[in-house]
Amino acid sequence: MRVAYVQPAYPQEMPRFLRGLVEVGAEVIGAGEGPPPDAIRPMLSGWVEIPGYTREDESVDILARALDGRGVDRVESLWEPTVILAARVRERLELPGMSADTVLGFRDKQLMKERALAAGARVPRSRRATTAAQLRAAAQELGFPVVVKPIAGAGTATTWRVDDLAGLDARLPALAQVAEVSVEEFVVGDEHTYDALCIDGVAVLESVTRYYPPPLIARNEEWISPAQMTYRNPYVAPLMPGIALGRRVSQGLGMQTGIVHMEWFRTARGEAVLGEIACRPGGSKLMDMWNLAQDMDIYREWARAACWRSFEGVPQRAHHVGVVFKRARGQGRIRAVHGLERLRAELGASIVEEALLPVGAPRRDWKQTLLSDGWITVRDPDHDRCRWMMERVVRELQLDAG
Ligand SMILES: Nc1ncnc2c1ncn2[C@@H]1O[C@H](COP(=O)(O)OP(=O)(O)O)[C@@H](O)[C@H]1O
Ligand SMILES: [Mg+2]
Repeated sequence: MRVAYVQPAYPQEMPRFLRGLVEVGAEVIGAGEGPPPDAIRPMLSGWVEIPGYTREDESVDILARALDGRGVDRVESLWEPTVILAARVRERLELPGMSADTVLGFRDKQLMKERALAAGARVPRSRRATTAAQLRAAAQELGFPVVVKPIAGAGTATTWRVDDLAGLDARLPALAQVAEVSVEEFVVGDEHTYDALCIDGVAVLESVTRYYPPPLIARNEEWISPAQMTYRNPYVAPLMPGIALGRRVSQGLGMQTGIVHMEWFRTARGEAVLGEIACRPGGSKLMDMWNLAQDMDIYREWARAACWRSFEGVPQRAHHVGVVFKRARGQGRIRAVHGLERLRAELGASIVEEALLPVGAPRRDWKQTLLSDGWITVRDPDHDRCRWMMERVVRELQLDAG
């Protein structure tokens, strides 16, 4: 089994999927910008340098030519900006896996909604817009409040709730570089993910995580400590509509083998409404939380599915897992960490990971990172206790910078 793996080094979880490929017996040819980083070199049997996703046509040509005749069985990529690039190389080499058109359904937010709607999913009403006039017309037709976001967005960048025409006009300068936007009905609800490992379109492992608060709020308010909780067992009544939606949307969009990451809203009436779906793993700490909640190695199980179309995991579903990301107060370097000693003493072994920036480290740009200035992960068999611990970390832990 020879796998070409595009973008194996960044972001942080990509080398773990590479490790998974090696563990299930694959020989891996990496592809990325520049030379392969030293940390992953021992896991690779070859390397193809490509200009990267900003020069997709050229990258596809170079990679397809370099791989042709080398007995490659799979071309994979798990990073949002390169999933189409990998699909185009697969098509050129006539290898199995999702076509570029199928993958586009997971990238283009309007096409995504059209395909999901055709599959019978509840989807926010929406319009495409490329000019300011179209944007105004779309918002008025849909009715305020609306959400405005780039068609191929990620990480809640240039995404806002807009309440009226004046608010819309105020956002126009920031949208000047965005070629095309999607305007959507604003959905009120608790925001969750649906994460699934699929083999030939069938979900073999599923997980649900709730965001506290919705990313739209967390990404626009610096003082917030964004938090997430992964359920130990997603098969509980309040989450079942989201699981049904996840299965319907992934099948409707033609998911084959790999990981899907969907976001959905649970309305006050308990209905599940689609946010978005991607055919790659969720970012920040989601994969690690999934592993901790179900005692899994999703990195290896993805690799097994991708290479051998099989799943050997035995989910334990013993713990709810909460992560709290912390943003330092002030600018510059981390000066002090408050409250950690007490949390350690009182929460003990329930704290399963601590990854705060050390004193002296420069704080990160909170708009550019999903990981903030570090995080604390807690887990507990009991839902309410897990929530309580998360809230304590939110309230009692402080990083000061200056
Ligand atoms: N129709 C909507 N109604 C309410 N909130 C929305 C809607 N669309 C997006 N959001 C909010 O904006 C965030 C980012 O939008 P999303 O479509 O997930 O884009 P991205 O690819 O940037 O994550 C979501 O997580 C959610 O909090
Ligand atoms: Mg999103």
